[in-house]
Amino acid sequence: MAIIASNFKTNHTRKTTSYFVEEVNKYLVSNNVSSDVYIFPTSTSLDKFETIPTLNIGVQNAYATQKGSFTGEIGTEQLDEFDVNTILIGHSERRHILGESQEEIAKKFAFYSELGYKIIYCVGEPLEVKEEGLEKTLEYIYSQFEGIDINYENLILAYEPIWAIGTGVTATLEDITDVHSALKSKIEKPLLYGGSVKVDNVRDICSLHGVDGALIGTASWIIEDFIQILENTKDL
Ligand code: 13P
Repeated sequence: MAIIASNFKTNHTRKTTSYFVEEVNKYLVSNNVSSDVYIFPTSTSLDKFETIPTLNIGVQNAYATQKGSFTGEIGTEQLDEFDVNTILIGHSERRHILGESQEEIAKKFAFYSELGYKIIYCVGEPLEVKEEGLEKTLEYIYSQFEGIDINYENLILAYEPIWAIGTGVTATLEDITDVHSALKSKIEKPLLYGGSVKVDNVRDICSLHGVDGALIGTASWIIEDFIQILENTKDL
């Protein structure tokens, strides 16, 4: 079954998130769709959503703590309030815009894996590395596994080339196949592709050998489009 994940990033409000989750849940139930679906809203939009077990609500980020003095961050005390046990770790926007180091990311991974969280762990190379070829690209990606327990049972991986994120430039099917088959030969975990996945290309991408689903930003924020994405991949 395809795994389809929507990363809201800094989009949607409490009200629109709750409508979105409700609509997705309704669609999955009434169409008997059994894909594994993840939605990552902003942390201000978390709530006790009523969803079927295959629709999971996770967080885009949290600090490696239960509680404490970490201004602007949230910990498990806040996540527990909403029964959240799924987290995105290593997203390129956190690595490159928010400056999270591999060491901090590994620490976060260790903390949340110790607690049994489902972790969607993101890796991906910048354009200048991609331009150096596949070998350098893989080298870069493997360095993003430093300190990460790749055998962790609740792990899903996401390959998101940075140059394809939010740019409208999707990696070619060949690019995706190259990286995914290399990663799959080393790490036996579900592997999602992310980076300008859209209604029109999601099926082709998710049908590729070595692709277990998609992690989607921009194209997933409009409810009708996200439902169409689910519809286009429901039998994969
Ligand atoms: P876009 O789908 O907007 O390219 O974003 C991908 C992404 O970063 C999902 O985490």
